[in-house]
Amino acid sequence: MMSTAMDAKPEITVVDDAAALADTAARAIVEIAVAAVAARRRFTVALAGGNTPRTTYERLAAAPLREQMPWDRTWIFFGDERAVPPDHPDSNYRMANAALLSKVQVPASQVARIRGEAEDADVSAAEYARAMTEVFGSRRGELPSFDLILLGMGIDGHTASLFPGSPVLKEVFRPVAAVHAAAASIPQRLTFTLPLINAAARVMFLVAGAEKAKVVKAVLTETGSGLPASMVSPTNGRLTWLLDRPAAALLGAAKSR
Ligand code: 6PG
Repeated sequence: MMSTAMDAKPEITVVDDAAALADTAARAIVEIAVAAVAARRRFTVALAGGNTPRTTYERLAAAPLREQMPWDRTWIFFGDERAVPPDHPDSNYRMANAALLSKVQVPASQVARIRGEAEDADVSAAEYARAMTEVFGSRRGELPSFDLILLGMGIDGHTASLFPGSPVLKEVFRPVAAVHAAAASIPQRLTFTLPLINAAARVMFLVAGAEKAKVVKAVLTETGSGLPASMVSPTNGRLTWLLDRPAAALLGAAKSR
């Protein structure tokens, strides 16, 4: 495993393949959770959707990591959701529930899913923001700071459900927003906004596969790419990119931004 800690963000870790990525990510999540509970008596995490994190979630749901996670002190949110019911094949909640949540002792009251099935997506976004405020005890106008936000990235540079060119990229106030992404298979979605993501103590991208190599290079080496993933830069937190070798293939000796 090659690990490069830069003096400037982001920190990039490259591992051999998707299986190593899942192992490394799952172990890092346990470490962050244990440290958060030691410091603040709880761990707040936002899960990523898409396919990449599934094996990471499965590692967390199995021995030995399952027994190391402080589940009773863990609060789980979702960084984005598609506008579908929780039992729909495209539901991010459904995937996380099948791979992880249904297999561990996390109290149901500490799992907050986004209501993708809600008739009014704006209302659902506002409800989710409110649920977050309650857990974090944040004051009016104050953004919750997650201990960890997990993210993936699409080949077009989208992350969470922040797609290139979307007006939501300019959001400065709302932590969660309903969006329409014409290019996505399920265009109607709900997503964390950049201000909420960038208020986190730690953000970790999980990216695997050769098809992501080009966009990984653009996001990590080109300034002003304007790609949503490149706008993730926690104000007071750490940013980690966990890549497998195929996804990192075009980084070469190129300098990180
Ligand atoms: C979603 C996601 C999204 C995802 C990327 C990468 O709900 O679609 O949260 O941002 O992380 O599209 O997805 P893959 O891991 O499936 O490539």
